[in-house]
Amino acid sequence: MKFFVDTADVAEIRDLAATGLVDGVTTNPSLAAKTGRDFLDIVTEICALVPGPVSAEVVATETDGMLRQARALRKIAPNVTIKLPLTPDGLRACKTLSDEGTMVNVTLCFSAAQAILAAKAGATFVSPFVGRLDDIGHDGMALIADIVQIYGNYPAFSTEVLVASVRHPIHVVEAARLGADVVTLPPKVLRQLCAHPLTDTGLAAFLADWAKTGQTIPEA
Ligand code: E4P
Repeated sequence: MKFFVDTADVAEIRDLAATGLVDGVTTNPSLAAKTGRDFLDIVTEICALVPGPVSAEVVATETDGMLRQARALRKIAPNVTIKLPLTPDGLRACKTLSDEGTMVNVTLCFSAAQAILAAKAGATFVSPFVGRLDDIGHDGMALIADIVQIYGNYPAFSTEVLVASVRHPIHVVEAARLGADVVTLPPKVLRQLCAHPLTDTGLAAFLADWAKTGQTIPEA
């Protein structure tokens, strides 16, 4: 399972990339707006920090405009992945860009029917938003189960399931259990994955017992 980080905060990405756990990055216009910075600068810096796919979303809503923005964004670096909304125009742009060899992340996917269309359009990734479905009383992880099963029925579909709108570690564990290819994690959730109170108290006890021995372990 690949881990992407879901943020446009370059300092956060630098910090998390140093763990060696980050395989890619997803941004969106809301995350970019939160930084108050120039979007192209942000994408350029992120692409230099993380060699894996870095999703940069277009903001045009018709196919021609999407394609023009995508062609400008993909010039930034070879790992730029063009993020397109799951609309008829987005799917048309997806087909064209995929045929040109550009990585595409089709975003704002909320149904299995939409995910089938993204695969047919040749998307590299489809991003079902589990948290936003949970927020309205639906079952986000049930959608992941459906898409993983459907894509598994068709070996010709090469689109990877990228679990997005992740809110907590259980989403990550469930996504892994279902065999999703990628999860994109807010930095806070990535840090939460490591945290366990029994790890903290266990380590404190080991160190206290070790201190009583008065010994040291040499460092090479
Ligand atoms: C995915 O690529 C999106 O950026 C993201 O996961 C949206 O999550 P949200 O529902 O927390 O805004």
